[in-house]
Amino acid sequence: MSFAVTRSSEGKAVSYDDLASDLAGLINGEPDPIANLANMSALLFHSLPDLNWAGFYLMKSGELVLGPFQGRPACIRIAVGRGVCGSAVERRESILVEDVHAFPGHIVCDEASRSELVVPLIAQGTVIGVLDLDSPSPGRFTDADRQGCEKLVALLLDHLDAGAVSRLSH
Ligand code: SME
Repeated sequence: MSFAVTRSSEGKAVSYDDLASDLAGLINGEPDPIANLANMSALLFHSLPDLNWAGFYLMKSGELVLGPFQGRPACIRIAVGRGVCGSAVERRESILVEDVHAFPGHIVCDEASRSELVVPLIAQGTVIGVLDLDSPSPGRFTDADRQGCEKLVALLLDHLDAGAVSRLSH
């Protein structure tokens, strides 16, 4: 196993290809899904510039419940269809919000958040959770971020076996 470096804080560019290799290094050989989600949130939080929150919500008994994350303490439960996270579950697709103040129903966890990217985790056809990234800068996330994060989520999901999926979400 190799540990990822925080290139953005060292002033060097970080690409999603770099992040994919770093993520693979962190999760390959480790079957524990919580450990892998925790390391993925830390990797993203410390490698992508200008974030104030990075982490997961997991589907439990029909609602999203806070999972591993980096950033300030956040709201714990989100109903499907509520906020950006619950809307991404309902739509079964990523949602990129350039200005959270303009998103009806946006749930404020940290007043500093101004833009947001949410990618659903879909395993065997079922939404088991979401990856949520928040930034203090309006318009921080681009379509390249959406595509990059969707690839990282796909890498994570490829790594989860059925047992891990049922431990994460039920
Ligand atoms: N803003 C999110 C809630 C989660 S926090 O940003 C961590 C939403 O509207 O779903």
